[in-house]
Amino acid sequence: MDTIITSKDLQNHLDDFRNSQKSIGLVPTMGYLHDGHLSLIRKAKSENDAVVTTIFVNPLQFSETEDLDIYPKDIEKDTFLASDSGSDFLFTPTYEEMFCDDLLTTVSVQELSSVLEGASRPTHFSGVATIVAKLFNIVGVCSAYFGEKDWQQLQVIKRMAQDLSYRVEIKGCPIVREKDGLAMSSRNVYLTNDQRKEASNIPESLWKAHEKIKNGERQSTVIKGIISERLDRSSMIDIDYVELVNGENLTITDEIDELTRVLVAVRVGTTRLIDNMNALEGINL
Ligand code: PAF
Repeated sequence: MDTIITSKDLQNHLDDFRNSQKSIGLVPTMGYLHDGHLSLIRKAKSENDAVVTTIFVNPLQFSETEDLDIYPKDIEKDTFLASDSGSDFLFTPTYEEMFCDDLLTTVSVQELSSVLEGASRPTHFSGVATIVAKLFNIVGVCSAYFGEKDWQQLQVIKRMAQDLSYRVEIKGCPIVREKDGLAMSSRNVYLTNDQRKEASNIPESLWKAHEKIKNGERQSTVIKGIISERLDRSSMIDIDYVELVNGENLTITDEIDELTRVLVAVRVGTTRLIDNMNALEGINL
């Protein structure tokens, strides 16, 4: 695996690949790779001739009160893991490489960005869309792989790619979970042992809700109630939102159908955790 730090250098390598009709898979990350990221790299490798993994902790998607300064990093381990999972290139641009000047241009995907996560993080998705747009422009024609844990992010990126006619195929990949069901996230490392134990209530609440749906319940309010009741049992968990939405346009749904996505966001101490499932399919615990 080659580690590359400039866009020009990456483009030169990728042009060579494309000139010999080889396909490229892109896995954008902020590093501190876990099995969720590695599953994206493996999937990209199984579907493409070459895989580019990017690591860039994007300041645009953090608000002033968020964890940009302490965001976990381990570039040596990431380099080993990315290579071991089949990545051909690791793109690790510096801040200056990505933003040689203050940005005067940003990308924002209206409506999808202001609800759910966007309600408490109003600038977050414009930060994500802007950096992902830059990566798409640097990498060019490719398939790009994103985890379904960040369901709203996936919908924002899909819509951006469609609206701006990117020649990038967006591929959503299933959530990878810890043994007790907690969705893998680089931020899980912030949890104390006690908080980590309590965090397993999040997937359990989704599992319980899905049991009810399997038994025929179709009213969103009932399902929201089951999840909230389960999460409220833990004094360490503060609910930000529990919502049932249309999984594509993210509008609130009263009745469950095959497109319904159940989304949960909580705080465990100071750590914000999110999870989600398709209402009819549920989650694997
Ligand atoms: O999901 C992430 O890790 C980030 O939001 C992304 C897509 C790499 C953009 O910075």
